[in-house]
Amino acid sequence: MCDDLIPPSADMTERQWLDAKAAAGEAPAPGEAPGGTARLVGRRSLLGGAVAGAAALTVLPGATGFPAAAAGREAVEKFPLPTAPNSAGEFAVLVTGDAGTGAEEQYAVAAAAREVCRAEGVQLAVGLGDNIYENGPESDDDSEFQEKFEAPNTGIDVPWLMVLGNHDCSGLIPGSGGDPSRGDREVAYARTSPRWYMPSRYYQVALPEGGAPLVEFFGIDSNPVASSVIQLDPYYHWDGPYMREQRAWLDGALSASRARWKIVLSHHPYLNNGKHGSAGSYDGFTFGDYTSGIHLKELYEEVVCGRADLIMSGHDHTLQILEPTVRTGGTRPVVCGAAAKSGDGTAHFTHPAAWQDFAARGFMLLRASAEALTLEAYTVDVAAGKAQLAHRVRTTVPVGEAGVRAGR
Ligand SMILES: [Fe+2]
Repeated sequence: MCDDLIPPSADMTERQWLDAKAAAGEAPAPGEAPGGTARLVGRRSLLGGAVAGAAALTVLPGATGFPAAAAGREAVEKFPLPTAPNSAGEFAVLVTGDAGTGAEEQYAVAAAAREVCRAEGVQLAVGLGDNIYENGPESDDDSEFQEKFEAPNTGIDVPWLMVLGNHDCSGLIPGSGGDPSRGDREVAYARTSPRWYMPSRYYQVALPEGGAPLVEFFGIDSNPVASSVIQLDPYYHWDGPYMREQRAWLDGALSASRARWKIVLSHHPYLNNGKHGSAGSYDGFTFGDYTSGIHLKELYEEVVCGRADLIMSGHDHTLQILEPTVRTGGTRPVVCGAAAKSGDGTAHFTHPAAWQDFAARGFMLLRASAEALTLEAYTVDVAAGKAQLAHRVRTTVPVGEAGVRAGR
């Protein structure tokens, strides 16, 4: 569980963390053997061969461009990306985060969102990470994809832009973020799902495609620079080739984008009034290269702030529409991680907020038109399965035109 994931010190290896827990006489977390001796998180490895929802999928012979890991399995026809705004002249987007429990609350929030999506002409959805609790998928076609994504979201039949969370990249400890390679299974899964959209670990989607888009999404992988433990694979080191390439891609993509509205999607928040805190001081750690998220803070401040209109993240199981400020270069930080779990009811920090809720479950709706970018927060009564509009903010000036100068 995210709530139990605070390590005893920053930048430990998973082995050091487990040994420290054993020495302290603490009970093992799910996925660990007693005594701190870890076993691989392979409790579902016997499920190989179960193809989630395969019978319902339409084969698209000739589809290409999917990861090699998925080769040999049949591709499907994807729900198409919208090519034009809805009848209200907007691209309407459902935003969810930290949804993948498969439990009653996820189903209730999804059911409430489904009603709103139908009423509001939603054409696209977003999943902000922790898509498959607790360990991430065990294979490219783990039945958890069906139980924790396809089944609850049935009827929200649009492309879902998915990003990777720390639970999707679990190592020995569920939610540690210590094995980014596990996320490749979620990229591969896109081949056999009509709605799961993750063409690579980080990617961009423009609506409409080509020309001068109205809105463009940049999905990033924040895990190698925000994991609870150090990365052991040099490829995923905070300053290794993967993060260098991702940073260069994001910098170039934001520069080249001609979209009126630019939205960065990530799992770990930039600013956050919830219990996990903000990048650079996650969970109270302000030193080291991984646990604190210091290098994600740098990525946000040096590449994203002042260039994207929104940074939308999950990780904290709360709903927060924070204010754009000089510090953020006019970029608005948003936390939307309450699609299944809920927060502790308490604001832990005081970043300026337009609206926030630390107890409710819920989701958000994003509306992008030529005139405005509108964000709506919905809270959900889980017992009734009903959503209620809690707050709306509307922006008419893109951050690139507002000319806010960052003063960090
Ligand atoms: Fe998370």
